[in-house]
Amino acid sequence: MRNFILGILAAFLLLGLGGLAIAGFGLMPTNADSSPPAVELRVATSALHTAMSRHAPRLSNPVLATDENLIAGMKIYTINCAVCHGTLDNQRSLLEHSFYPPVPQLIVDPIDDPQWHIFYAVRNGIRYTGMPSWRHALSEQDMWKVTGFISQVETLPPAVQDYWVQSYGVRPPGATLRPSQAQ
Ligand code: HEC
Repeated sequence: MRNFILGILAAFLLLGLGGLAIAGFGLMPTNADSSPPAVELRVATSALHTAMSRHAPRLSNPVLATDENLIAGMKIYTINCAVCHGTLDNQRSLLEHSFYPPVPQLIVDPIDDPQWHIFYAVRNGIRYTGMPSWRHALSEQDMWKVTGFISQVETLPPAVQDYWVQSYGVRPPGATLRPSQAQ
């Protein structure tokens, strides 16, 4: 038993020293535009979600999901987020694979996280990725507006869908055709 424990300690020590040597000799890759291995992505994503669930307060969106507020959220998204997360003409961002890990494309692949989770990521950013903390640039109200918009991308009310079509020339993803538009 004693040898077994010593063996485990030695293994950890070697791993630690190995890590330090890789860092110390400058062997760490620093480029952002390669794809993380599947295992790394799975472990890191799960660790991130567990940590965010632990830290994020379960807030409800204090900004009502009115047409006006959703359109305001859409504009905030276009100005601040679309360059990385994809534009409202339903195109993926050209920078999608320029980050490590790659940037989620919130318009063409909408996420189904609860609003408190999205708000926490927007407000505080995500460490060691390209996701900035927005609380020094946007008001609380505006962060909630963009959160509401992102979480409803596929279920926007008709007037907001019409605004989207008029502004960007395409229909929102997952938008259902209303009878008046279906001819
Ligand atoms: C400079 C690029 C960049 C900009 C601008 C940016 N983001 Fe991000 N965002 C990222 C990256 C990179 C990730 C991926 C982080 C990860 O996978 O851990 C991310 C992740 C996210 C996530 C997912 C969080 C999760 O739980 O997985 C949300 C939601 C998000 N961003 C919202 C926004 C909003 C809203 C804006 C604008 C106010 C914005 N982002 C602006 C780069 C950006």
